[in-house]
Amino acid sequence: MQMTSDHANLLYEGKAKRVFNSNHSDRVLVEFKNDATAFNARKHMQLRKKGFVNCQISACLFEVLEGEQVPNHYLGLIADTCMMAQRVQIIPLEVVVRNIAAGSLCRETPISFGQELPAPLIDLYYKDDEMGDPLLTEARLELLGLLDREQRLEISRLALKVNSVLSTFLDKLQLTLVDFKLEFGCNESGQLLVADEISPDTCRVWDQRNTDLDGRILDKDRFRKDLGGVVEAYEEILKRIQGVCSKPRIYR
Ligand code: TMP
Ligand code: ASP
Repeated sequence: MQMTSDHANLLYEGKAKRVFNSNHSDRVLVEFKNDATAFNARKHMQLRKKGFVNCQISACLFEVLEGEQVPNHYLGLIADTCMMAQRVQIIPLEVVVRNIAAGSLCRETPISFGQELPAPLIDLYYKDDEMGDPLLTEARLELLGLLDREQRLEISRLALKVNSVLSTFLDKLQLTLVDFKLEFGCNESGQLLVADEISPDTCRVWDQRNTDLDGRILDKDRFRKDLGGVVEAYEEILKRIQGVCSKPRIYR
């Protein structure tokens, strides 16, 4: 399926995905692009096959979450780089869960890189590219009025559940889930769902089979740090997932 010329139905174009209207008002098509960006898109490149690999990984991981009763927007694949998903109103928050200190946690606090955290840490960021996705305090979150108390608790509960399900799943594949970012949205019935994508673009994943500090990186840090082999690393994750999962279902 060729989505790229379907301008009439384009609802939203982000840095790594396009979202299109489908034939049903409660469902959308999510197309994964080959664009790789970092540092709020100051760094930008096309990476052949990235859209395909991320779409397949995301589909498999959403199916794993579904199997553990984690409500999410994924309905099934409709093409190699495109999935059908429930239409949601995205809450403008980036919900980051961290197990091991890396990235901004090490830049912004004295916690040393690679330190295992005593418990998973949830950091909430206001999703706004122009503002550079600022880190929120609980007080600022409340002031913004984006969530009621129940939704706030449900987001934390779901984020920790996703962390425990995916950490356990990936650990069996000798992959360590260092941290990741989730987005949430509400569907037509007001149900809170995990939305967006779950891929090596939005996670840090280290290979337990490789002790080299750079060699073990299988996620977008390869792109951020100019380590090369970005899509090859993503493909390694997909290969291990495919070793234990059936192919993602086709949406009909
Ligand atoms: P950070 O250490 O840069 O705050 O990133 C934490 C996690 O969130 C990491 O797995 C990468 C992911 N992430 C995104 O998916 N999108 C973003 O815009 C940023 C900054 C991080
Ligand atoms: N997602 C952000 C960007 O595309 C930042 C990042 O992932 O490093 O620019």
